[in-house]
Amino acid sequence: MIELHDVTKTFPQGKGGEFRAVDAVTLHVPRGSVYGIVGHSGAGKSTLLRLINHLEAPTSGRVLVDGQDLGALGERGRRAVRQSIGMVFQQFNLFRSRTVLGNVAYPLRVAGASRAAARERAAEVLKFVGLDGHARRYPEQLSGGQRQRVGIARALATSPGVLLCDEATSALDPQTTGEVLGLLRRVNRELGVTIVLITHEMEVVRTLCDRVAVMAGGAVVESGDVYDVFSRPQHPVTEAFVRSALHDVPEGAALERLRARHAGRLVTVPVTGDTTGLSRLLREHAVDFTIAHAGVGDVHDRPLGSVTLELRGAEADVDAVVARLSGPDRTTAGAR
Ligand SMILES: Nc1ncnc2c1ncn2[C@@H]1O[C@H](COP(=O)(O)OP(=O)(O)O)[C@@H](O)[C@H]1O
Ligand SMILES: [Mg+2]
Repeated sequence: MIELHDVTKTFPQGKGGEFRAVDAVTLHVPRGSVYGIVGHSGAGKSTLLRLINHLEAPTSGRVLVDGQDLGALGERGRRAVRQSIGMVFQQFNLFRSRTVLGNVAYPLRVAGASRAAARERAAEVLKFVGLDGHARRYPEQLSGGQRQRVGIARALATSPGVLLCDEATSALDPQTTGEVLGLLRRVNRELGVTIVLITHEMEVVRTLCDRVAVMAGGAVVESGDVYDVFSRPQHPVTEAFVRSALHDVPEGAALERLRARHAGRLVTVPVTGDTTGLSRLLREHAVDFTIAHAGVGDVHDRPLGSVTLELRGAEADVDAVVARLSGPDRTTAGAR
């Protein structure tokens, strides 16, 4: 649905210098999928999103949406493509002086719909997002979650095939975030809309995304199926992101506390699916264990995370187990 081929975006900086906000990005977003983009602040995520709907023109490279090369289109063609792409923002960006219905009807009016047709369609979309009772209210009278649902309704008004979300849930509390994510899932599943979303929240990627790309310094440093990327992070940024979200590996003071509590040897073992190999290994060496720490969550209905075990047994047996867990054959224990 969306293809980026070797796309670079530079901004002028200082005296004749330039800054690469997006650096040689190649990306393919399958039709009907939910694609997450994560990365630290300044990584180039928002710029990348604006390249997709051509709010920014790439310095080099090609952007295709639904088979259409945006660079090859005239301004008119680009406007048409832009109308087939909805956008949702962190701060909602609603008109304060317009009613909820007026906000949702606005893009339809811009696209040339009659007042009556725009209102009818706006009412329909408001119903879809569960706000049909709020049509005559003003944004200020709504909660953050409701405002974002208006933002989503407005983005959907012109029936786009693609929805771009820039930190759409970052200003919301966890419960409201869950509701908005539920709505976005319906947008994807029931309306078949392809969604690209930027987030710094692992939870968002975990609950909603099929695929994920990790950005650092303008480049995509890693991308793929969410479970694959999270279970075998290759790049330090991905690793840090997964760690911070799973809280599964005790470090620093937390590790010191565990050491104080557990006299035996502590090992942290990744859990990525079946752990029968681990129990077999412990049994073979007659090593017993207690769980010192566990951080295992579900990603796409498969377990991901790690457990920290205190191993207890004869010194040589514990050594043998640790060697196997850290050796080349560690997959037998479910380790990565
Ligand atoms: N219009 C612009 N002019 C100059 N620099 C920009 C512009 N837009 C973004 N940048 C710079 O590009 C980098 C990436 O920005 P952005 O895409 O907003 O990152 P992110 O969304 O990942 O936080 C930042 O260093 C930012 O300052
Ligand atoms: Mg941003």
